[in-house]
Amino acid sequence: MKPNLAVKIGRLKLKNPVMAASGTFGSEYAGLADIDKLGAIVMKTITLKARTGNPPPRIAETASGMLNSIGLENKGLDDFIKNKAPLLKGVKTAVIASIAGDDEGEYAELAERLDRVGRVDGIEINLSCPNVRHGDREYLIAQDEKAVYAIVNSVRKSTGKTIIAKLAPNVTDIAGIAKAAESALTDAVLLTNTFFGMAVDIDTLKPVLGNISGGLSGPAIKPLVLHMVWKTYKRAKIPIIGCGGIMDYKDALEFIICGAAAVQVGTANFVNPNTAVEIIGGIKNYMVKNRTKDVNKLTGSLNA
Ligand SMILES: Cc1cc2nc3c(=O)[nH]c(=O)nc-3n(C[C@H](O)[C@H](O)[C@H](O)COP(=O)(O)O)c2cc1C
Repeated sequence: MKPNLAVKIGRLKLKNPVMAASGTFGSEYAGLADIDKLGAIVMKTITLKARTGNPPPRIAETASGMLNSIGLENKGLDDFIKNKAPLLKGVKTAVIASIAGDDEGEYAELAERLDRVGRVDGIEINLSCPNVRHGDREYLIAQDEKAVYAIVNSVRKSTGKTIIAKLAPNVTDIAGIAKAAESALTDAVLLTNTFFGMAVDIDTLKPVLGNISGGLSGPAIKPLVLHMVWKTYKRAKIPIIGCGGIMDYKDALEFIICGAAAVQVGTANFVNPNTAVEIIGGIKNYMVKNRTKDVNKLTGSLNA
């Protein structure tokens, strides 16, 4: 039996449901992993203009995960179009660009210009940007339903390509935020980005990260995100992409069974750049063993 692993996210047909997550996998991995086997690769988030990112140190190890505070360092949209997109020409998998901005206008401009870049098959909207104000308090876009709606809506109007709204986990009602993105006509929601976290050097009393706080990823967050996927699956009508601490095919299957149509692998790439490729093989073997013909049948199959 040859199981079907192909999935559809909006208009995008992926040969399998396993993608490499933004910021954790680049074309420099070409010799270390068989990129062509992946369902898709998501590029590091780009902004309109170049950003220098946060002060070092930007990475810290934790008990079962890692903290990062890269701070969206990137060379900007022009550089992406001129220098990065051409490198992806021969890659035989879907390429998804990831965008972030300060307001609707910036997100819309990024989407509009990427819409004309042939090698970009889809656009992921990174909503973990801190620029929503309520009085003297600042929130991430992803923490505010109205802001999520406005940004996703502006991107939707600027591109016909498949769009994915990447949500942040530090919210009370993740399904409510997903519904806001859905009503702004995103093709899919991605759960989730990293959790806020920090670490302290007890000898110097200083924060370990130069930016004081950062984002926690890796195995520590898997049960938390899994629960969010399940909660969201029960309310959302669009595909959910699960991402958080996926280290092997069993983790990936847990996400799919809880309602994810596809998954992304992030931190695991730093341990073994071939993890995502190995996960595809593991899912295939599981399907053969269990006589599952179509991976889409597994989505949301939780026996609860
Ligand atoms: C070093 C590092 C850099 C990241 N950069 C980005 C980024 O540029 N854009 C983004 O949307 N997410 C970024 N992420 C978040 C990951 O894409 C992913 O959502 C998160 O790490 C959770 O998945 P994981 O536990 O499998 O790593 C980054 C994560 C790490 C560890």
